[in-house]
Amino acid sequence: MAQTVNVKNVGLRGVTVADTKISFIDGENGILLYRGYRIEQLAENSSFMEVAFLILNGDLPKKDELDAFENEVRKAREVPEYVLEVLKNCPKDAAPMDVLQGCVPLLAVSDPDLNKETREANVRMAIKLIARIPVLVAAWHRIRKGLGPLPSDDSLTHAENFLWLFHGEKPDKEMALDLDTCLTLHADHTFNASTFACREVVSTRAHMYAGVTAGIGALSGSLHGGANARVMKMLFGIESENDIAGWLKNELGGGGRIMGMGHAVYKTMDPRARFLKAMSARLGKRIGQERWHELSMQVEKCGLEEFRKKGKTDILPNVDFYSAPVYHIMGIPLDLMTPIFAMSRVAGWCAHIIEEKFAEAQEKPALYRPKAEYVGQYCGLSGCTYEGLETRENTRPE
Ligand SMILES: CC(C)(COP(=O)(O)OP(=O)(O)OC[C@H]1O[C@@H](n2cnc3c(N)ncnc32)[C@H](O)[C@@H]1OP(=O)(O)O)[C@@H](O)C(=O)NCCC(=O)NCCS
Repeated sequence: MAQTVNVKNVGLRGVTVADTKISFIDGENGILLYRGYRIEQLAENSSFMEVAFLILNGDLPKKDELDAFENEVRKAREVPEYVLEVLKNCPKDAAPMDVLQGCVPLLAVSDPDLNKETREANVRMAIKLIARIPVLVAAWHRIRKGLGPLPSDDSLTHAENFLWLFHGEKPDKEMALDLDTCLTLHADHTFNASTFACREVVSTRAHMYAGVTAGIGALSGSLHGGANARVMKMLFGIESENDIAGWLKNELGGGGRIMGMGHAVYKTMDPRARFLKAMSARLGKRIGQERWHELSMQVEKCGLEEFRKKGKTDILPNVDFYSAPVYHIMGIPLDLMTPIFAMSRVAGWCAHIIEEKFAEAQEKPALYRPKAEYVGQYCGLSGCTYEGLETRENTRPE
């Protein structure tokens, strides 16, 4: 008989539920590895396409493998017309994450690979999702502004094509390179909430699109993908403050939190935040919008000072802190910051889905089925006295 272990851990913090070969975090030392490679090296030297290939296939591509992969992604960019029709009929004030979450199952229904349970077919589905999520995000943004979606440009890279579809202008090459680096930085992060949601769904043998739909739902929550937009809201709110230190002291004194600081796993500087900090300084200077970086640095400095006074030296900027000014300077509205996160994380989600489906890191696939302790109404094993609808009215207390 299978052994049952009676351990309760609300929120599953620190509980190991699977093996993975995709990414690794050392929170004490601020280290993040994708398939064994340091995030810093990947962000400095590799494109998001190389990183997506790495995450999906296990190692960095050779030149011809990368060319073939990029070509596949480019060929898969076109979104079926019936999906665009749905977008055109959505209320214009619909939240972009809801719209995106609704579109993914629509992409599934016309995919000939949908029910082919081979690794190759799943990689092809992953490529289509990586290619089409940016197209959907940009299309929705234009449609809600009363504009028509634009066709992809095959001469452009993944990030350049997104900026073109989004802004409708020839993309700024340097900005596209920065966006590409942001996509690399957000591509995977072990068993975060959305990745776990994807893996849990496909552990039932549901298809990849069902898993990714769940991942988008989990990412839409403000404790997960929504934090950078809230950082930017905070920066807007304090833009005209003369006394940032006083504002923060007040905020923290009232039990508030500084958005973009602190992390459930990193107890030192998030390695991705270091990159984004440098990027927001450089990008802001080049575009002539330095004030957002300066403001962020002031918040960081005053926040660290306040935390230090309380003996909390492990609350430091996380990936969302400096990605907020970066995306703002790139012209990304607040409600599209999380969809951009999804454009990147979809690579990680798909890799985890494949790893889960084909048990690539453990002996065999397993259906996730945790237990919950029942703390509700209980009248013994024979059940509570059942009363019909008519008598329930009179006997149930108000
Ligand atoms: C991310 C986060 C939820 C992780 O927190 P955690 O490691 O689970 O720790 P807790 O939420 O239990 O917080 C531990 C303590 O630090 C404080 N703390 C943590 N992050 C804080 C922040 N950003 N601002 C103010 N206080 C913070 C908590 O108030 C708590 O204090 P207490 O022990 O006096 O009650 C938390 O740091 C946070 O809310 N950050 C802001 C939101 C954010 O940036 N999210 C994106 C994460 S990538």
